[in-house]
Amino acid sequence: MGNVGILGVGSYVPEKTVTNFDMEKILDTSDEWIRTRTGIIERRFADDKQTTSDLAAIAAKRAIEDAGISPEDIGLIIVGTNSPDMRYPATACLVQDKIGAKNAAAFDLQAGCPGWIFATTVGAQFVKTGMYKYVLTIGAEVITRMMDKTDRYTYVLFGDGAGATVLGNVEEGGFKSFELYADGSLAEYLTLPAGGSRLPFSQEVLDKRLHYTKMNGREVFKFSVREIGRISKNVMDKAGLKPDDIRWFIPHQANIRIIDAGMKRLGIPKEKVVVTIDKYGNSSAASIPIALDEIYREGKLKKGDNVLMVSFGAGMTSGAFVVEWSK
Ligand code: UT7
Repeated sequence: MGNVGILGVGSYVPEKTVTNFDMEKILDTSDEWIRTRTGIIERRFADDKQTTSDLAAIAAKRAIEDAGISPEDIGLIIVGTNSPDMRYPATACLVQDKIGAKNAAAFDLQAGCPGWIFATTVGAQFVKTGMYKYVLTIGAEVITRMMDKTDRYTYVLFGDGAGATVLGNVEEGGFKSFELYADGSLAEYLTLPAGGSRLPFSQEVLDKRLHYTKMNGREVFKFSVREIGRISKNVMDKAGLKPDDIRWFIPHQANIRIIDAGMKRLGIPKEKVVVTIDKYGNSSAASIPIALDEIYREGKLKKGDNVLMVSFGAGMTSGAFVVEWSK
């Protein structure tokens, strides 16, 4: 059994750009507050008719083309998302149909913002065991529809988008280490309370706006800074690597202050850190594969580069891996 690596990558962000100045028009907020507190300048919003599976399918087709295979070759599709098209069926099944991956099994994986990290870690195990030759892992969100337009605390932070990767065997490089983590005792810090078995939809839910995301930003912030450092160090240790050996760090894009604090703790210079939050805000499970695709398309990613990707979010969860780029 060979190593498992990334054979193809693709992404898609919707065209509609919403600036901080646009936010000023609908909320008691300011460009200055959003920029200095979060690093966000603008974000993308899906078109009214676009769903998460639409964004995911575009990113998936690009990744499959990049891998040089056809949709029928895919054995398994895993979509990491917090904003599925519907409560069920799985968005991954809708993607399977949209891209014509008729031989693929498909399921969603709900792990907060690290959804794509979790999906990719799971998918890589299936390739490693030989159960599937090609696994398509996607992080896709129309997360802005889960946000309350009247809540300045959350509405300004998020954006929509999708990123996808095709996993398969590689001759050189590939994944060197993984780590996944969860602490469910902190679950209440970031929730979308209604619409599940705990709080089914009702008039009261709508009146209290419990069908939208609720977040304790300060607690999520503390968890994130701690985890970004802790779990990144763990995956470097497992891979026998030091920060100097890593060419690119791609952290989840939730807040530039979380990224800066985490990277400072690890002693990582800014030039090695990929930042897209200024353009896209927090696109939840899509943020890392979008950022990966951007540096790849810009020609910054070279064969042999070690890339560390790390994420944190609702659950609370965190996850990271190191992959040696093999394309
Ligand atoms: O993907 C994972 C999920 N999310 C995250 O990782 C988010 C983690 N948390 C954060 O990024 C930050 O906690 C926030 C950006 C959400 C908030 O930043 P903060 O520096 O922790 O702000 P704060 O909660 O301490 O609030 C400071 C002030 C408050 O006003 P008072 O009480 O000091 O008068 C807020 O009401 O800022 C106010 N505020 C705003 N002001 C203008 C909160 N949101 C806004 C806003 N515009 N949009």
